[in-house]
Amino acid sequence: MANDSKKIIAVVGATGAQGGGLVRAILEDPQGGFAVRAITRDVTSDKARELAKLGAEVVAADVDDEASLKKAFAGAYGAFCVTFFWAHFSAEKEIAEARAMAAAAKHAGLQHVIWSTLEDTRRHVPLSDDRMPTLHGKYKVPHFDGKGEADHLFTDAGVPTTFLLTSFYWDNLLHFGMGPKKGADGTLGFVLPMDDKKLPGIAADDIGRAAYGIFKAGREYIGRTVGIAGDHLSGAEMAAALGRALGREVRHQAVTPEQYRGFGFPGADDLGNMFQFKRDFEKEFCGARSLEVSRRLNPKMQTFAQWLDRHKAEIPEA
Ligand SMILES: NC(=O)c1ccc[n+]([C@@H]2O[C@H](COP(=O)([O-])OP(=O)(O)OC[C@H]3O[C@@H](n4cnc5c(N)ncnc54)[C@H](OP(=O)(O)O)[C@@H]3O)[C@@H](O)[C@H]2O)c1
Repeated sequence: MANDSKKIIAVVGATGAQGGGLVRAILEDPQGGFAVRAITRDVTSDKARELAKLGAEVVAADVDDEASLKKAFAGAYGAFCVTFFWAHFSAEKEIAEARAMAAAAKHAGLQHVIWSTLEDTRRHVPLSDDRMPTLHGKYKVPHFDGKGEADHLFTDAGVPTTFLLTSFYWDNLLHFGMGPKKGADGTLGFVLPMDDKKLPGIAADDIGRAAYGIFKAGREYIGRTVGIAGDHLSGAEMAAALGRALGREVRHQAVTPEQYRGFGFPGADDLGNMFQFKRDFEKEFCGARSLEVSRRLNPKMQTFAQWLDRHKAEIPEA
């Protein structure tokens, strides 16, 4: 199909985990009817050049600069919108960025936006609920609540939107210091403060492939919230899978959310609250992330065992 007859998807975060998965999914399907416009702040970076080499149109924009987003979205059919909490730790900033993306999407007349969001946990745990501390003055799980609070900005702007609920990246075990740690006796321990409750998880690059499935489905998912995951597993089940993949014992260390918040690394309080929310609302949280729907959207969706098979050699300390 000639490029000029293809529907252009503008992808925010194209050099990152979620957006990068979508860029590659589109490029790997040249007959799919879509072309990709990769958005980066620096078109000269190695990652940006690599995307251009693979066949993506690469353009510059910043989610903090609405004018740049308007230019980057112009002429596109759709956009994938994501924010970057861990770059600044500010839910307010994420909300402002979502507002700018929604305004730019409306201005460009986009026909379909996917907003990568998460639950506003305050709908389940109001600020008055002292089971977990209130953080940054008005949030329970700042990196969730800001995204959920921003959902209505897309609807209010009149943008045809799919709200994509993502899941815990298993890649956090490689890059975010969440992999198994060696204890005093040399045994590996996998910390997850969720007792015996199940954590929906996903290979980060499968998020983009699922987003591609949503675009390919046409109007079916517009106005809907769709949750995705590759597996729902308890800490003990994840530890057992890690043990099988690494060929050595890995024990689940079921610390409490209080203990986790006390670990002291930047964001430990936010993540401690997040795991507590996922533990206390397991039914709702897993229920919002159907494995069947996820595999329909992305037939290549990996299980934890399949992901481990590919990445076990990269797990630090193991
Ligand atoms: N880790 C998890 O388990 C998990 C699970 C669910 C959801 N999330 C959420 O995922 C979000 C992050 O997505 P990700 O993991 O795909 O990000 P990522 O891999 O960290 O990628 C971020 C990319 O976005 C670009 N970027 C950063 N700031 C930007 C800005 N101001 N304007 C435009 N582009 C910018 C950067 O590209 P350039 O340098 O090329 O501009 C970077 O390559 C976070 O908000 C987090 O809460 C994380």
